[in-house]
Order: sequence, then C-alpha cells, then structure tokens
Amino acid sequence: LPKEEGWTSGSEKSLYLYQGFWCLARDLKSVISLQKHFQAFDSDVFVATSPKCGTTWLKALTFSTLCRTQYARDEHPLLNSTPHQLVRFLEFDVYLNNPFPDLENICVYKPRIFATHIPYASLPTSIKDSKCKIVYICRNPMDMLISLWNFMGKLRDQIQDPPMSLDEAFDKFYRGIYLSGPFYEHVLGYWKASQENPDKTLFLKYEDLKEDISCQLKKLAMFLGVPFTEDEEKQGVVEEIAKICSFRELKEVQVNKKGLSRFGTPHKDFFRKGQVGDWSNYLTPSMVERLEKLIHEKLDGSGLTFKLSS
Ligand code: A3P
Repeated sequence: LPKEEGWTSGSEKSLYLYQGFWCLARDLKSVISLQKHFQAFDSDVFVATSPKCGTTWLKALTFSTLCRTQYARDEHPLLNSTPHQLVRFLEFDVYLNNPFPDLENICVYKPRIFATHIPYASLPTSIKDSKCKIVYICRNPMDMLISLWNFMGKLRDQIQDPPMSLDEAFDKFYRGIYLSGPFYEHVLGYWKASQENPDKTLFLKYEDLKEDISCQLKKLAMFLGVPFTEDEEKQGVVEEIAKICSFRELKEVQVNKKGLSRFGTPHKDFFRKGQVGDWSNYLTPSMVERLEKLIHEKLDGSGLTFKLSS
C-alpha cells in the first residue's frame, strides 16, 4: 500500500492509503477485521465523521437523544463519562487488537451506537445493507484543518515531537494525507448516501448546529425515530440536551477527567475553541485561495456547499 509519514513520529503513526483513504498503520488491522466480521443490527446507529468536524459533540447529542428515557434527568451519563466512552469508535477502540469484541457487553445502553471515521464506500457491507441509521457531521474544511493542526500539535507536544509548521500541515491536508482523508471524498461519500436514501443517512453541518442547536436536535430526533413529544418540549428536554452537550458544559466535565483518550491525549484536548471561522486567524490569503479552489473543483455540481467566509 502507498505509505506516507503521519502527523506524529513512530512507525505505527505512518499512514497507508487503503481503499482510497489514509489509515494509520496501527488501525489497519482493525479496519480489515471489522469490514470482515462486523454485523450491523437494523436498530444500530452510527456516528460517522472526519476527524475534528464535531465528532465529540455529535456523539453526545446522539446518545442523549436516543437514550434519554434510560436514566434519571439529573443522572445523565455525560456527567461522569466522556462522549467517547459512551459512543465508542469501531476502528480505534472496539476492534483495536480484537477481531471478535463482545459487542453486546460493550453497549450498556440500547440501541447500540458506534462511531467511525471510515469513509462510506469502505463501511462494512452489513452497515450499508441493513436498516441501521447513520448520522454524519461535516465542517468547513478550513476550520477542520486548523482544529486538526492544533490537536496534532498537542499530541506532538505530549510525545516530545517538535511542533509541525502550519505550512507542512496545510500541505498534508491539501493532499488529503491525514487520518481518513481526503476530506472531499469522505464528505461526498456520505453526502451522496444521504441524497440517495435520506431515511438512512442524515447529513449535518457543524455550522448549522452552532447556529440553531434546538432545530438541529429536533431534526436528529425525528430522523432517529424518537421525535420529542409535546410534553418533552414543554418540559424543556430539548434545551436540557443542548445544554449538557454544549461546548462549555462538556468541557467542564472533561477537564477534570483523568486518564487519556484512545488517541493518547487528555480528554480536555477535544475541546479547544468550538467556533466557526477560526481559520481566519491562521490561514494566509494564498492558503485560503488554494483551498477554496480545491473545494470548488471537488464539490461543484454535487449540491454540497460550505460557508467559507466568516
Ligand atoms: P476547535 O478545535 O475548532 O475548537 P472532534 O470532536 O471531531 O474531534 O472535533 C473537535 C472540534 O469540535 C474542536 O474544534 C472542538 O473544540 C469542537 N467541539 C467539541 N465539543 C464541542 C461542542 N460541544 N460544541 C461545539 N464544538 C465542540
């Protein structure tokens, strides 16, 4: 397989081009295992994303929406667990070094909810063929790049790798060389799936969630087949979920959380600024121009657009 240096040092951090997407050497085996063995149930829900597009947020929202009747309102599991513990990644967690994980015991709450960064085309066949549901979130690629560069910077710092320049990060991102890249293939795969079968794949945008979270939460609940009842709306359940999953509240809980995430970072590193348009503080005009051109080249005609200017 074509190989490239990853964003941090160490041979297991190299990236391999597998089925058209870049995959960490460490995760290649688990991706192949789950493609071979994973059996989706019709009731399963999958949170699918590219890194740094709002995965943590969407995990929290999907869990809180789907499982809201399974715990007391003042005992929300997010008060003690991270979104990544409640909705585990298939390839970096559940199947890592374990081709036959005990899926039933992994999922305490029902229905089963899993997460993945794998592109649509490479999902296990049973996910594509069953009646399970997929929720996808994308984000303006410029904000995604800045978020990724900052996150990898923290990871490099932790393992005492020298910082990576923004120029180098830009170049890798532009060429699609990062975990699950390139972004346009990832986003278009799920976009097309959502257009072809809107009952199976819901396509969300980070920017829309930032603009009107209540509206997007209701859309999510409706799609998942658990719309908020009139009573729930009157009792403020939608606002309660939005609040507990908000950047400020989630961050506060995770800051005190001990241990490291599956990516080897403290849990708090999944919360940086949580804003739209932060790219304008970093990218040079020529970087913006190149990226805008690439986005237009790849996405024009698909019907998918991003708000590129802040
Ligand atoms: P920034 O680095 O731009 O702040 P992921 O969860 O896919 O790794 O994405 C991380 C990005 O989502 C980070 O973006 C992070 O701050 C932001 N984020 C995490 N939780 C959020 C929340 N509850 N609301 C809004 N943004 C959130």
